[in-house]
Order: sequence, then structure tokens, then C-alpha cells
Amino acid sequence: MSRQVKSGLQVEVRGVSKAFVGVQALDNVNLTVGAGQIHALLGENGAGKSTLIKILTGVHQPDSGKVLLDGREMAFRTPREAIAAGIGVVHQERNLITRFSVAENITLEDPPTRFGLFDEAAAVAATRKWLDLLHLDTDPRTPVSRLSVAQVQLVEIAKALSLESRFLLLDEPTSSLTPHETGTLFAVLRRLAADGVTIVFVSHKLEEVFELCTHVTVLRDGRNACDSRPLAGMTRADVVRLMIGRDERAFAAPAIGTRSGPPALELRGVATGLGHKDITLQAHAGEILGLYGLVGAGRSELARAIIGAVPITAGEVRIDGKPERIRDVADAVRRLGIGYVSEDRKGDGLILAHDVAANIAATVWHRLGKFLGFVSDRMQNTTAAPFLTSLDIRTPSLAQRVGNLSGGNQQKVSVAKWLAAGSKVLIVDEPTVGIDIRSKAYLHDLILKLARDGAAVIVISSDMPELVMLADRIAVMKGFRLVDTFDNAREYTAASQRIMQAIHG
Ligand SMILES: Nc1ncnc2c1ncn2[C@@H]1O[C@H](COP(=O)(O)OP(=O)(O)O)[C@@H](O)[C@H]1O
Ligand SMILES: [Mg+2]
Repeated sequence: MSRQVKSGLQVEVRGVSKAFVGVQALDNVNLTVGAGQIHALLGENGAGKSTLIKILTGVHQPDSGKVLLDGREMAFRTPREAIAAGIGVVHQERNLITRFSVAENITLEDPPTRFGLFDEAAAVAATRKWLDLLHLDTDPRTPVSRLSVAQVQLVEIAKALSLESRFLLLDEPTSSLTPHETGTLFAVLRRLAADGVTIVFVSHKLEEVFELCTHVTVLRDGRNACDSRPLAGMTRADVVRLMIGRDERAFAAPAIGTRSGPPALELRGVATGLGHKDITLQAHAGEILGLYGLVGAGRSELARAIIGAVPITAGEVRIDGKPERIRDVADAVRRLGIGYVSEDRKGDGLILAHDVAANIAATVWHRLGKFLGFVSDRMQNTTAAPFLTSLDIRTPSLAQRVGNLSGGNQQKVSVAKWLAAGSKVLIVDEPTVGIDIRSKAYLHDLILKLARDGAAVIVISSDMPELVMLADRIAVMKGFRLVDTFDNAREYTAASQRIMQAIHG
């Protein structure tokens, strides 16, 4: 590999904050990456990793704080300025122009020309060099639209390498690669680092991190859980604890599902008006079924079919072993005891909620508190107070109507409310998106308690660590079909690999 640049950039992020509407994505974040270091940037979904990468590469500008390169303050206004400063990036979302060829994409920033026209032969030759480096045997003239997901990811990486950057940022670059392709990439990255290129690497696969990286920064809810620590001497458990704020096995005690007897909810070969095909799954009383999938996989839509909001066009739904026809939402909720905490709690979620627990006021607080053992009849007011604190619900009093609380507070109550409603089957859609770590742990406790009390709980989540901690079984959806269902041993590496295999396999 011919490298023009022999020394990388020393990178410092000092107290960077960034807010989007409704969320503090980064809060006073620090990061120090030495020149030639391979530095892991870790955190759960939504922790702020991609936002930090985008600030370092000129896509976003920080609200406050500084970025220093070799001690000089930088404020990139555009990605082009970052490229000019010697920074290459593979973003988490794909950025190629799919109707352009591989060569056109790779040379897009600086296209070779001959007599003032795009020089395809030169572009193809330049591109081939980078494809070869990654052992990617694809004709550079192929349109990107014809490539597989893994090939597209490798082309993104080749494009970043082709800039011969002094600082390379890779946001989950291996998410769709095979172990073999990943191995090739790592060999290239190690060579670059040996040449002095500074690398920041984001991955959910901790074994990759330990294999490749020397230092780690962990973000949690937009803050540093650790700042630029050497990985030597740290264990996987240490890293996981930093990521999730508690031990990985905190939820190891499974819910007490018995799979004898008919499932509380069973779908047999179900199709829906939205395009689901041949969905077969079972949720047993006392167990948590995790439903994983990428955005657009059809998970929420399936939930809406189960709750009677979308027609089921083929197959069979059984409740406690009995075939049932779900007529509409009221039928699902009242007669069949199915609850659904929707992702969009301000929209249909609360309307559904009101069906079941009309006048959600002191009574629900009371029943809910009693269920959780926080509130006795006698000591309601004194013991309810810490309960409010732990849910972090800001309410003027216990008698406050839930409808008058803020959206975020309603969100927490909407899960809890179903405890009082006594649903037999409860579907919870992205229960902890956008909420702080303390409320998140609290909601996890609620979901487990609900299952222990005998409900069949289906948790839809894109947060893999969350699902792996909570679920007794995991079902994976892709393209409105179920692609895998397996018993979850609550071991992150094994589960994430199996899920990735099902999705990208
Ligand atoms: N462009 C955006 N507009 C609004 N919110 C955003 C935007 N980008 C990210 N967020 C929010 O910022 C938080 C951090 O997101 P992100 O940096 O993508 O996390 P990660 O990459 O660690 O999963 C999340 O709550 C996310 O929803
Ligand atoms: Mg991200």
C-alpha cells in the first residue's frame, strides 16, 4: 500500500454538546485519540456515537465545546472541509449514489479528468487498487445498485480509504460483513494504524473491539461513561457495564414462562393487509418474547394487526389455544385482553390506553403502586413518593390526571398502566427509546414483573442489548416476515451474532 501520509492526527474533543429537537444527543463529551491509535467508540443505540462522528466530520456543528486536531481548533462547516483536513469517514447509513458505478462513487470527491471530461479508465484503475486492498472482486464499472449489502459496505470503506486520510472514522463498518470480510478489513486497518493513521471505530461486536482497538470511549445517554481508556486490563464485562450502566446479567433471572399448555397468543401462518406473510409465532404466559428487526421490518405493523387495527387476511390467531377472530381494537383489548403500548405514545398509544383505563388518575396510581409493592392502603402517600421519583414522573400530586402530564411522563406511565389493566398479552413497542437510563432500568423491571405475574409480553426493540437482557426468546423480522426465532441465553455476543446472521445472513 502506498501511503502519502505517514503520521496521523491527534484528535481531541473537549466538552462537546449537541441537542436535536427533544433530545440532548451529546452532553459535554470528551474524547482523546492519539495519532496512530485505533480507538473504539462504544455505547448502546442512541448513546450519541453517530452524532459525535458527524460532528468530527462536518455533518453537524456542536452547540458548544471544541474539536482540536493536532492541538488546533477546528470548526468544520461542511463535510468537504473535513475531507480537506485529512478526515475520512464511513457513516453508519449508506451514502453512495446507487445509480452511479463503483468507480464514479469512489472518485466522486476528486474525479480524474482528461480533456475536461470524466476519465473513466483512470477512475477504474484508481478504484481497482482500493477494491483489491479489501479483496473485493467487483468490476468498478458496476452500478452500486447491483451490489449486495456487504459489497456496498466494502465500497463505502474503499471510498474512505481512497482519500488517504490521516484520520479515519468508521461507524459500524462491519454490520453486514462476514467474519472473513471483517478479517480482511482489520488487516488493512492495522496496516494503516502502523503507518500512523488515527482511527475511530464504532461497533456493537465487542469481540471485534477487543481484537482491533487499544483504547475505548463509552457513551451512555449522550455522556461519557468513560473517556479514552486503554483497553488493556479491561474485561468484556467492564465494557458492558459502562455501556449499560449495570451488569450485563442483572436480568439473567428469566421470567417464569412454562411452555406447557397452549400459548397465550399464537399466530399460525398469518398474513396481513400490510404485506406480512406466513408469520408463525407463539408467546407463552410468563415469558418475554423479543421482536427484533431493522426499521421497516414490519414489527410495529404486526403489533397493529394483533391489536385489531390492521386486518389479518390469512392464517389463524389463537388465544389460549382457541382460534379467535380479532374484530377491532376494542375487541382485542376488552374481550381478548391484549394490550399494546405503541411506539407513538402521543398518537394511538394513548387512545388505546384510554379505552382500558378510562380516567387514569389516582386509582391507577394506587393499583399500580400496590402491584409493585410500593403502596399499601395505609401508607399510600408516603410510599408512593419514592415510586414517583424512581419513574421520574413530574406530577404535582398523586391525584394528578395522567392526561395532564407531559409527553415524556405519559410515556413511562403508559407501560405501567397496563399492569393495572391486567392484560394477558402485552405488546410493548420500543419501550425505552429516548428516555434516560434510570427510567429505562425502571421500565425493564416493570416488563419483567409483568411477565412474572403471568402475562405474555412481546417487546419490540431495536436496542439489541436491551432485548438480549430481557427476552426469553427472540424472534427476528425482516421484510414483513419472520426470519428466525431462538431461545435467548442472554449472552450478548451469541445473540447479536445470531440476529445479524438472520438479518444479513
Ligand atoms: N438528525 C437528528 N435529528 C434529531 N434527533 C437525532 C438526529 N440524529 C440523532 N438524533 C438523536 O440523537 C440521539 C443520539 O443518536 P445517535 O448519535 O445516532 O446514537 P448512536 O449512533 O449511538 O446510536 C438519539 O436519541 C437520536 O434519536
Ligand atoms: Mg449510530
